[in-house]
Amino acid sequence: MFKVAAKKTIKSATRSYSTKNGAAALKQRFSELLPAWQADVKDLKTKYGDTVIGNVTLKQAYGGMRGIKGLVYEGSVLDPYEGIRFRGRTIPQIEKELPHAEGGDEPLPEALFWLLLTGEVPSAAQTKAFSEDLAARAKLPKHVEELIDRCPATLHPMAQFSIGINALETESEFAKAYDNGVGKKEYWKYTFEDCINLLAKLPTLASRIYRNIFKDGKTIDADPGLDFGRNFAAELGFGDNKEFIELMRLYLCIHSDHEGGNVSAHTTHLVGSALSSPYLAFAAGMNGLAGPLHGRANQEVLKWLKEMKKEVGDDFSEEKIEKYLWKTLNSGRVIPGYGHAVLRKTDPRYMAQREFALQHMKDYDMFKLVSAVYKVAPKVLKEQGKTKNPWPNVDSHSGILLEYYGLTQESFYTVLFGVARAFGVLPALIIDRGLGMPIERPKSFSTQKYRELVEAKAKQQ
Ligand SMILES: CC(C)(COP(=O)(O)OP(=O)(O)OC[C@H]1O[C@@H](n2cnc3c(N)ncnc32)[C@H](O)[C@@H]1OP(=O)(O)O)[C@@H](O)C(=O)NCCC(=O)NCCS
Repeated sequence: MFKVAAKKTIKSATRSYSTKNGAAALKQRFSELLPAWQADVKDLKTKYGDTVIGNVTLKQAYGGMRGIKGLVYEGSVLDPYEGIRFRGRTIPQIEKELPHAEGGDEPLPEALFWLLLTGEVPSAAQTKAFSEDLAARAKLPKHVEELIDRCPATLHPMAQFSIGINALETESEFAKAYDNGVGKKEYWKYTFEDCINLLAKLPTLASRIYRNIFKDGKTIDADPGLDFGRNFAAELGFGDNKEFIELMRLYLCIHSDHEGGNVSAHTTHLVGSALSSPYLAFAAGMNGLAGPLHGRANQEVLKWLKEMKKEVGDDFSEEKIEKYLWKTLNSGRVIPGYGHAVLRKTDPRYMAQREFALQHMKDYDMFKLVSAVYKVAPKVLKEQGKTKNPWPNVDSHSGILLEYYGLTQESFYTVLFGVARAFGVLPALIIDRGLGMPIERPKSFSTQKYRELVEAKAKQQ
């Protein structure tokens, strides 16, 4: 099946790709794989449905449900010490194995979408056809353009992003099919179309917000001959900068997915489980990503680094940095970009960005500052003794890379993260619908009820 699609798409290296071979080939492949997955899940539930998979303590109920096993997520798994694996592959592996753009070194995020949905690495031709299909679906409906254009520049870019995604609900094929009484087995097909359309429109929406707030409001259309990352870079106004384009491809890949329990992934899944359309479910996930403890940490980091730079000047000595870190902590704030709910070592997404910086901007003073903080912050955080993970996460590095190339407006950074997150959570939504996942509804108790429960248990012991 794949071979046929690939053969047709290889015909031309330029613009005569049939969009049918893009997302349609991916949809076809998913439909071929789905029956075996459904059977596997059915078998697992039948044979082991009552097997205990974990215990829950009172501390976990009050502690943000850390470590409680209760979610199913196929795309990626996070190991506290190794970091993320996308369908079993580490970041260095996806950097190597996924198709790259011609002449480029970084993996293409649309290939990662394919991998996360199917578990298979697409060919270069399949990826190219998929890119073209996405670009063909990129245009926003007029009412969304007008709505975004009416937003005041003072409204945070993430709030505008969320408004735009919600307003795209008019395009939902799933919502229309549901209204028309489509059967449950068909849900995933409409969800798939919504997810592809939404993914395709995100750069157009994001760049419109960027240009409205920070530039002259003039936008450019996606070019059907270009890959997602390159188009997005161009739409933002960085289309002539090869390094920025490469950064965008890498950025979109490494920010895509971080297993199912993080706020944006979990929210998208939770809202989707009520059979809200992918537009509404993803917008909800984006509202979660906008929080400073989650995606907005990238904005916080750059702001904080700029403040630090003002104070320390060119003196990045250990003493100066340490003093500034203590000042932040003693004022009751967190060190942004450090710590993680699951990770217990330096985030490999941080390392991937550090390697990019070493290759492209090793003498940049803000990179030197980030590196100096990396040397000192883990020691200071260990000494403070609160955080379980004193190492940097993804947000600790991304801002200075963007700033180096001229994307200096840090309040926009979480929108970039949001576009990237779609590559992880939208495949998950399609899988949810394919596997017929039910509405999510965990149990809650009041403190009084928990007291009764644990005291009764204590008496039994
Ligand atoms: C990511 C984060 C929200 C994880 O939270 P968590 O799982 O509750 O983290 P921990 O269990 O290690 O927290 C234990 C304590 O250490 C503190 N802590 C965690 N990270 C810290 C940091 N970077 N700086 C200072 N204190 C920190 C917590 O606030 C908490 O303090 P409390 O007991 O007074 O409430 C947290 O590390 C954080 O706030 N980091 C900074 C924001 C950030 O970079 N977010 C992006 C994540 S990808």
